[in-house]
Amino acid sequence: MPNNSIITVQQLSKHYDNHKILENVDIDIFESDFTVIMGPSGAGKSTLLQNISTMDKPTNGKVLFNQQDLTQFTDKKLSQFRKKEIGFIFQSFNLIDHLSVLENVCLPGFLLHSKSKQQVVKRARQLLTSLRLSDQIDQAITHLSGGQKQRVAIARSLINQPKLLFADEPTGALDSTAGTEVLDSLTLNNQNGQTIVMVTHDLKAALRADRILFIKDGKIFGDRKFSPYDFDQIETRRIEITSWLEEMGW
Ligand SMILES: Nc1ncnc2c1ncn2[C@@H]1O[C@H](COP(=O)(O)OP(=O)(O)OP(=O)(O)O)[C@@H](O)[C@H]1O
Ligand SMILES: [Mg+2]
Repeated sequence: MPNNSIITVQQLSKHYDNHKILENVDIDIFESDFTVIMGPSGAGKSTLLQNISTMDKPTNGKVLFNQQDLTQFTDKKLSQFRKKEIGFIFQSFNLIDHLSVLENVCLPGFLLHSKSKQQVVKRARQLLTSLRLSDQIDQAITHLSGGQKQRVAIARSLINQPKLLFADEPTGALDSTAGTEVLDSLTLNNQNGQTIVMVTHDLKAALRADRILFIKDGKIFGDRKFSPYDFDQIETRRIEITSWLEEMGW
């Protein structure tokens, strides 16, 4: 049985001045899927992610979350919705350098005001431990490696137990080992039921997907479902996904 749609995008367009970046995009994002968005540079991947994740507003069209149109939310309602339901991970980490690791992870939890400070700190410590950062808890962000920073960003994105996790090139600034660790964390979250939408250029990252959307010239050019990630089947998977991407012109 197919999963439920958690996000429904209807006729979404995004224009900058007269430049049509996205045009009449329709897609569903399904609960518990690990959806990856690929496509050439400049195709509109980040724009799509920003518009479906409420970081930006489309020029036209709707973005429905459990039947509610997010494009009609007031800024105040949207800000509360974002804190509660959505986690973000960026290529450049977007951590706050003058706060410690623990403070960075706790911050969205404090801003949501739905749990006590002690509960937020407890969850932050658990997340950081599960991401193998227990020795770095009180460190300054500037003392961490890129891979450690991205794992802090993952912990921060999960502090409020969001339904949806969006990531734009989360391994783009990392070496192969750090990238694999970050992908392993994302895969584990997904296996625990987290819905993930990730933009990437990286084949290794794309291999984690159970669905790939291929964007070209601001349109969905390809949409293919794959079996869930299984490390034991990695070679079969690599061949299956690479040959599909080649069909897409990747
Ligand atoms: N704020 C903006 N104002 C004007 N044009 C923009 C803006 N943001 C993006 N664009 C344009 O929209 C197009 C798509 O950009 P986008 O960042 O979505 O591409 P992308 O697929 O993520 O590319 P990359 O793989 O290089 O990250 C590009 O031509 C870009 O110049
Ligand atoms: Mg981009």
